[in-house]
Amino acid sequence: MTAASGGILIVGKTGQVAQSLAEALAASEYRVTTVGRPEIDLCEPQSATDAILAARPDIVINAAAYTAVDRAEDESEKAFAINATGAEAVAAAAAETGAPIIHLSTDYVFDGQKRTPYIETDLTAPTGIYGESKLLGEHRVAAANPRHVILRTAWVFSPFGSNFVKTMLRLNQEKPEIRVVDDQHGNPTYAPDLAEAIRQMIDKLHGAPQDSNLFGTFHAVNADETTWFGFASAIIEGAAKRGGRRADVHPIGTRDYPTRAKRPAYSVLSTDKLAAVYDVQLRPWSEALSDCLDRLVGSATREPQYEQRTFDRRA
Ligand SMILES: NC(=O)c1ccc[n+]([C@@H]2O[C@H](COP(=O)([O-])OP(=O)(O)OC[C@H]3O[C@@H](n4cnc5c(N)ncnc54)[C@H](OP(=O)(O)O)[C@@H]3O)[C@@H](O)[C@H]2O)c1
Repeated sequence: MTAASGGILIVGKTGQVAQSLAEALAASEYRVTTVGRPEIDLCEPQSATDAILAARPDIVINAAAYTAVDRAEDESEKAFAINATGAEAVAAAAAETGAPIIHLSTDYVFDGQKRTPYIETDLTAPTGIYGESKLLGEHRVAAANPRHVILRTAWVFSPFGSNFVKTMLRLNQEKPEIRVVDDQHGNPTYAPDLAEAIRQMIDKLHGAPQDSNLFGTFHAVNADETTWFGFASAIIEGAAKRGGRRADVHPIGTRDYPTRAKRPAYSVLSTDKLAAVYDVQLRPWSEALSDCLDRLVGSATREPQYEQRTFDRRA
């Protein structure tokens, strides 16, 4: 891929991952184009086909999706149109131009019955419409373009769009107490870290475009697992360290916080395959959260630095 070639086409413009990708790839050698609505509307698959065939990119990344997990229960037709039929059109158009596709998917393809990290070949069994539509999207994308990378991620947060970190920061301003579920386990994932991982993957794909090992399904999440309560506690702690308020965070059970869609109790993803095949690893989520809070709230207030010698009588 050169500056004169078709470059990278990112479907999805305003999303967390799409914006992070645009940022991560801006300084790279690749020519990057992001396309979203109205140019590409995945409810109108032909718009994706037309845009991709016109651009003739070297690589297509599909970061657009219907991501409203609860609303999907009442808008299943729309969720399937965007996440399955729309995704399929993107993958098929990429195939027609000879481009591989990197397609984002989700930990919610799993039912959460395991208690050890899910690997790529584990049985899928979504618990809701969102997960079902994304799983069908995986199958359709794989069938439409043999050179596909399906990248399952989870619990995405970033300085962009709306996400759990931003919600917790807002609640921290508004309420003295916050209740958060403590019986759903997963991997919070910082979209800029995911985007950097994808940049490294693109370098590998670029270097060995016919290496079949590089295609298939992969998990890409920040290292270490937690619960939504653990994640919320770290967010509030981080906000307080940066001079913000410190609301009390209380653990509750899923049964005390009913939602329209059922979520998996455990959707921790193993990233061993990504490390083995691509030599790409994401850092612990807590480190990434610190960077995110620096961007959203400002840098951490420094603790007073005491000289240890002052207190050490032996010195
Ligand atoms: N967010 C998470 O926690 C999470 C977890 C696991 C997996 N994922 C996956 O990661 C990927 C990126 O998620 P994200 O967090 O970046 O999502 P996001 O912030 O909700 O953004 C979704 C993007 O999809 C676009 N979109 C929605 N409907 C569309 C349509 N009909 N046509 C074209 N574009 C449309 C949106 O554009 P508009 O601005 O025009 O609406 C937006 O740019 C998705 O595949 C998602 O399933 C996300």
